[in-house]
Amino acid sequence: MTADDQKRAAGEAAAAMVEAGMTVGLGTGSTAAWFVRALAARKLDVRGVPTSQATADLAAGLGIALLELDAAKQIDLTVDGADEIGPGLALIKGGGAALLREKLVWEASARCVVIADAAKRVAMLGAFPLPIEVVPFGHRSTALRISDALSECDLGVAPRLRMKDGAPVRTDNGNLIYDAACGRIPEPAALAQALKSVTGVVDHGLFLDLADLALVGEDAGVVRVEP
Ligand code: 5RP
Repeated sequence: MTADDQKRAAGEAAAAMVEAGMTVGLGTGSTAAWFVRALAARKLDVRGVPTSQATADLAAGLGIALLELDAAKQIDLTVDGADEIGPGLALIKGGGAALLREKLVWEASARCVVIADAAKRVAMLGAFPLPIEVVPFGHRSTALRISDALSECDLGVAPRLRMKDGAPVRTDNGNLIYDAACGRIPEPAALAQALKSVTGVVDHGLFLDLADLALVGEDAGVVRVEP
């Protein structure tokens, strides 16, 4: 099975959890896209709350009715991918630069399911560089403060501005992304708190105590993992 087969199997398993009438948070990335396609194929009467413009475009093109976050009275279930899934379903997200909208939608959801291929499961978070969303004004000064926060957590690493095609990546919110190649994050909660205390940091890709269930595509089938 390829990683993409595993992502597809996880996405289809998550789509099977959706019931008619639900409002569903729609994640971002290649795994979440499999979920959106499988959900659309079920032709249920549901509304989707997209976590990025890319997902909004995909879902609308497949005929899923969409709602803005603030127009949704409640979000019954959100399904999204992850870059790493650690112990207790602590996650790194934001590889697709959608971490802020993703976290807003996750936090507004009654239940959150993370879907992934098997390679995303790790014994400790941190091999995947941690994305940090930063306002553009004074972002190089903010990056120095982020370095200080990382040092306070014994992570001596300089965050790198994410670039694409020679230009800084802009999020859907007009912000920038710095990636911190920590290597290992033994205390994610302490790091999350340190990063949130830096003025200019909008949010970071540590999703802690948010996922209720992981559906992980493995060669033998889709495995359910609980926190
Ligand atoms: C986007 C994300 C994605 O969920 C994460 O990057 C995983 O992507 P993929 O499913 O393509 O591996 O957090 O911001």
